[in-house]
Amino acid sequence: MTPLVIDTDTAQDDCVALLAGLLDPEADLRAITMVAGNVGFDRQIRNAHLTLNVAGRLGEVPIHPGCRRPLVRPWESAENVHGDGVGGMTMDFNRCEPDPEHAVDALIRLAAENPGELTIVCIGPLTNIATAAVKDPAFADNVRALYVMGGSNNARGNITAAAEFNFYVDPEAAKTVFAAGFDITVIPWAPLTLERAVFGQSQLDEIEALGTPLSEFFTRACAATLEFDRSVGIDGTTHPDSLTAALLLHPDLITRVGSYHVDVETQGELTRGYAAMSWGVHGLAPNATVVEDVDAEGFFEYVKGLLEAKTDLV
Ligand code: BDR
Ligand code: CA
Repeated sequence: MTPLVIDTDTAQDDCVALLAGLLDPEADLRAITMVAGNVGFDRQIRNAHLTLNVAGRLGEVPIHPGCRRPLVRPWESAENVHGDGVGGMTMDFNRCEPDPEHAVDALIRLAAENPGELTIVCIGPLTNIATAAVKDPAFADNVRALYVMGGSNNARGNITAAAEFNFYVDPEAAKTVFAAGFDITVIPWAPLTLERAVFGQSQLDEIEALGTPLSEFFTRACAATLEFDRSVGIDGTTHPDSLTAALLLHPDLITRVGSYHVDVETQGELTRGYAAMSWGVHGLAPNATVVEDVDAEGFFEYVKGLLEAKTDLV
């Protein structure tokens, strides 16, 4: 089993990544840590509780609220893309108390308790991870690896022409993390997600036909992003975060990687959050493995398998 924490901003594909952490027998999910990102901080905590509930695991995995805004900038959301992240679903949230320990302290503690064992799946802005690295100089060494969803290899952004959302929202945090000495695997937005992690209509029909509580949850949660993605010419709904969790738990889904020196632009007028992925020719020592291709069909079958589970609401 893989001991992991998921650091998330709980939009719809984050929810599916959480389902991987909660339902995959390979996963030993120790905690969920929350960072300011896609849909509003308190909403994100609710979405994580809702996901725990549909997975039948409410109360079993702690949710630690973390940094409520980026390091030096105001928070910006992506509600125009994700809606509320879960298609308006609700539950009795009075039963859901987040853990009082701050996410940054929880990350530092969990990594220190088992040095070299914990992997963090980073599927929101990197504010919590950067803060933990600054607060505890041993943090990067204590963590086994980071699986970071962010950036684009060759600058095809989704929030600006140059930048992907997670790095754009907190570029200072992203820059800090790539300089901190972690073992990092990057799952970039483009071209990877656009070529390999888009579920088209026939796949969405297959998922809906499962008729399980989880397939219903998936269909509803993904509706807003599906509508947005189609409006910008993407033929389906995008799943970068679910892919990130799947690749950690099932590395056989990875078919090609490259070794890069990754740095993040914090100053550019047009390029804030741009991920500079430098290959060998520039003479910079590699600091990350970038995933370049995956088994897309295997990934879809993996998600479908997760959603087949018959779970009981708590
Ligand atoms: C990232 O932002 C959101 O769209 C997704 O949850 C993912 O983490 C992609 O840019
Ligand atoms: Ca996310």
